[in-house]
Amino acid sequence: MIVIGIVGFFSSFSGWGYLSYKVTILLSVFVLAGFTIFQLVNFYKEDIKKKVKERKYYLYSKSRVDPRISLMGRIKIQILNYFNDVISTIQFKPRLSFLLVGSSVLLGMFIPFALDNLCICSQPITVSTRLTRAFQESYCKDKEICFVYLTLPEDPSNSMILQVHTRNEPIETTVRLSKLDLPSSHPVEWKTNSFISVSEIIKEEPRFVSYIEFNSLSESTNYKFNFTITTKDGPIKSVNYGFKTFSSGVGDGGLKFIVGGDLNLNSDATDLARIGKDFNPDFVVIGGDIAYENGIGSCYRRWDEKINFLTQYFSYDQQYNSNNNNTNSNNNSFIKFLTPLLMSIGNHESGAFFQTHDQVPFYFKYFLFNIGDSKKPVKERLSYHIHKLPFGISLASLDSCVVSTWDQQTQWLDNQWSNEKYNNTSKLVVYHHPIYTSRRNINDKIPTMGQKSIVPLFDHYKVPFAFENHEHLFKRTKPLFNNKAININNNSSLNSKLGTVYVGDGSWGTSKYNRKPQEASENTLPWYLAKRSEINHLWFVTISNQEIIVEAFSPDNNKIDRVEYYR
Ligand SMILES: [Fe+2]
Repeated sequence: MIVIGIVGFFSSFSGWGYLSYKVTILLSVFVLAGFTIFQLVNFYKEDIKKKVKERKYYLYSKSRVDPRISLMGRIKIQILNYFNDVISTIQFKPRLSFLLVGSSVLLGMFIPFALDNLCICSQPITVSTRLTRAFQESYCKDKEICFVYLTLPEDPSNSMILQVHTRNEPIETTVRLSKLDLPSSHPVEWKTNSFISVSEIIKEEPRFVSYIEFNSLSESTNYKFNFTITTKDGPIKSVNYGFKTFSSGVGDGGLKFIVGGDLNLNSDATDLARIGKDFNPDFVVIGGDIAYENGIGSCYRRWDEKINFLTQYFSYDQQYNSNNNNTNSNNNSFIKFLTPLLMSIGNHESGAFFQTHDQVPFYFKYFLFNIGDSKKPVKERLSYHIHKLPFGISLASLDSCVVSTWDQQTQWLDNQWSNEKYNNTSKLVVYHHPIYTSRRNINDKIPTMGQKSIVPLFDHYKVPFAFENHEHLFKRTKPLFNNKAININNNSSLNSKLGTVYVGDGSWGTSKYNRKPQEASENTLPWYLAKRSEINHLWFVTISNQEIIVEAFSPDNNKIDRVEYYR
């Protein structure tokens, strides 16, 4: 059993990409068959000895080897003797030997086969292999469009980025785009061939991600589009999709978005997504640890599950009269409206913090946040980005030391916030690892580095809210400035003279409990925290010219927190 365990352990290396599948099969057969023969020889040694007098069988390994022969010569003789012993044993018990050796060869081939492309991932812990996944339906089928989702570009008032997953390799994509509210307008049609293959990472099924960048759009406008991907296996046509560009100024109503992180698909997560959908957000922010595939290529279905979940909850079917619109070539009577997604990178997108770009197999291929990134090599796509939003808001998505350290982003963020485009905006930030932690120590490496290099920028530019994640708790800090808490009488009402409130900490289904938040007055909290609890939640942000309202809701639709910031 121990040997089988060892073989299984090394066989799993092929799934993790350290050994090729053929090498693991050869090694596995060699080790198991060799061990079986070794055991057979040992087991029948005494019985064979007894047969020596009958001169039927002979044991060679016990023969004396002339000590005058060189060491290498003696080793060679002993090896030959051992092979002769193997032959003697097989002759002594031919049927049993062939049965056991044959079984161990088959087992040696089966173990690597059964463990090929092993995936072990967390939240929740699941184990699957190429074999077990063969019995599950793939999310990405032949000649179908598997996933379509929008990501938020830097300026969503004039651009959007679309990602499309297919199993078939694209040759080119023809896109047709028209304004939904102008039925007489002719669609704009263009061709693009930006795509990337993920097949080498996924291995067991082909996968291609096509990128469609929508540029030069009008602000606050409903658009309708469809596309046809030409592949070697024939064209793949999409249904009609839609999106609305953002306002470049104040827009109608207000700006609304939700923020969550550390996504574990359970009933709490779906309840929260349902509440989030009812909020009708302009975009959805996920602050890292999205799929929990841990940088393992064979865990690609975790991404499929999460993308399927997000597109299911954050797209809206809307009826439209196709007779009034000559842009429709598919004669569908509905449009699937897409809500743009905005992500921050988390440690489970690569498996750890302080990793290299190459150690992130999916994230940079699946989500683009800058127009022009589709033409860039994956390695040049940055893990941090900034977004210009209506009502004088900007939102920077930062990398909390997964592939870029705080230091590496400080100058970039300072340049962004100080330039004409952003200097008059209310500056919000989202990232994965908290700087003001709810569970761990704020003197740990990543928080300390953050307090030294990036928090002074938050202070200087008067960031009202930082959305943090990673710790699977709910928390809100007191307003903090210069690494000190500012005590205010009514801790849910703030103004722009005060410091930054850090909210988090990423529990979109990952918290084990749903407990009522503790208040700071209970004296059980660290100096910087106003509230904390183990409870699944999402943050709901509503922005107008006058205020930024940040509220947290639990899966049972109870408001567990509210902070108003007067601009
Ligand atoms: Fe994390």
